[in-house]
Amino acid sequence: MNSIPKIDLHRHLDGNIRIQTILELADWHGIELPATTEETLRPFVTVTEPQPGLVAFLDKFKWSTSILADEAACRRIAFENVEDAMRERLAYVELRFSPYFMAQVHGLEMRTVIDAVVDGVRGGSELFGVKVNLIGILSRTYGAETCRQELAAILDRRDHFVALDLAGNEADFPARDFEPHFRKAREAGLAVTVHAGEAAGPESVWEAVEILLAKRIGHGVRAIEDPRLIEQLRENRIGLECCLTSNVQTSTVDGYAAHPLKHFLREGLLATLNTDDPGISGITFDYELEIAAPQVGLSDTEIQQALRNAWEIAYLGEDERREFIGEE
Ligand code: ADE
Ligand code: ZN
Repeated sequence: MNSIPKIDLHRHLDGNIRIQTILELADWHGIELPATTEETLRPFVTVTEPQPGLVAFLDKFKWSTSILADEAACRRIAFENVEDAMRERLAYVELRFSPYFMAQVHGLEMRTVIDAVVDGVRGGSELFGVKVNLIGILSRTYGAETCRQELAAILDRRDHFVALDLAGNEADFPARDFEPHFRKAREAGLAVTVHAGEAAGPESVWEAVEILLAKRIGHGVRAIEDPRLIEQLRENRIGLECCLTSNVQTSTVDGYAAHPLKHFLREGLLATLNTDDPGISGITFDYELEIAAPQVGLSDTEIQQALRNAWEIAYLGEDERREFIGEE
């Protein structure tokens, strides 16, 4: 069906840890899990029905991240993320992670986590031939001071990242609290994408755009409530990284049919299709493309448009982009 190469711009690598890997690493490190087989552990580490909200959804990360016990574990999950992308026939993927979120479980150093992830991704990319760029995340849930330290670790490894993101508890930690962080990141030449309009309303998207100067928005679902914001997103060619199943599972939307992606596309916004946390959500990119998108009401042409949009807003140079999609 697709003539356009597949591309996923919004994928958390710590939200995509294989169940088998969780079991093996737990066994190796003597970490206790609530179940000991793939089938019995699955309900503890994947979301199978809508949660009451984003925070309840994020609670599901508890067991899968419990195995991030050392550098080797971080390297392995990063490597396997690239292998997964290859298996899903993704030509290009932007993988994102929060060094603090990954490091805090076992008291690792954030720089150690970053180096291990970079190493795993490099190894995977070479072996599997998938182009990967990394996005650093500040976990807003831990507050501005922890995020300042997280940013320092990311900027210490500046060359390994293409962009900075803000994720976590959007409702309780507004974007404005992180203005100095994003100013610094922009000064260092990083692009800016921000989770907004997922667990808070259009005002949160406005803050991401006007205060953090985001050129891409993670989710952006609730932008649909504000026509002036839609206009702003269109005029400024701001990309929307939509994640359909994730939005159903966090109760951001009331089922696939209620998702505004079709309206975003019909309004001419640069909206795209992505997976968010495929391991936690129990999905693949193809699931989003072939099952979720049609349920949202997208036609084949609209799905193709979403893929074209993704290539347009990807953090790639013009030459790199042309290597994948030629002259468009
Ligand atoms: N971290 C992982 N998935 C997320 C999401 N959907 N929203 C905010 N933070 C996240
Ligand atoms: Zn996300």
